[in-house]
Amino acid sequence: MNVSVLNGVNLDVLERRDPELYGGIGLEELERRIAAWAEQLGCTARCRQTNSEGEYVGWCHEALDWADGVIANPGAWTHYSYAIRDALELVRVPVVEVHLSDIEAREEWRRRSVIAEVVAKRIMGKGPEGYRDALEFLTGRRA
Ligand code: DQA
Repeated sequence: MNVSVLNGVNLDVLERRDPELYGGIGLEELERRIAAWAEQLGCTARCRQTNSEGEYVGWCHEALDWADGVIANPGAWTHYSYAIRDALELVRVPVVEVHLSDIEAREEWRRRSVIAEVVAKRIMGKGPEGYRDALEFLTGRRA
């Protein structure tokens, strides 16, 4: 099983963001943990990050050919990018929306996710472990 893990804008500087909200680890460490969890679960996770919305949309399109599941944390794009929402809607395999922080317990504008209606599951506020839960969800759905 192939899982595409798509981290979006500002997640490349994760270690410099508020540790109370984001756990204080860097993207490299997050991706290392995701790879280890994937191995335990017997799947392949391909982790990518970009600050370019167009590139992110391209990776959603690519998932059509390669992935059996997608984990999407688009960062702030979550709250307003209809382009990413439409791209994720095209993905025929299950998509899990993951946020390190609990976006529903923060500022009012963060409570709105434009991708929520096109995902199979939403996980938030669990820190890095949210990605493990997402992998478990996707591998549990394997036929
Ligand atoms: C985030 C939450 C978003 O509101 C924020 O803009 C991010 C990260 C999270 O993982 O908690 O960049 O998606």
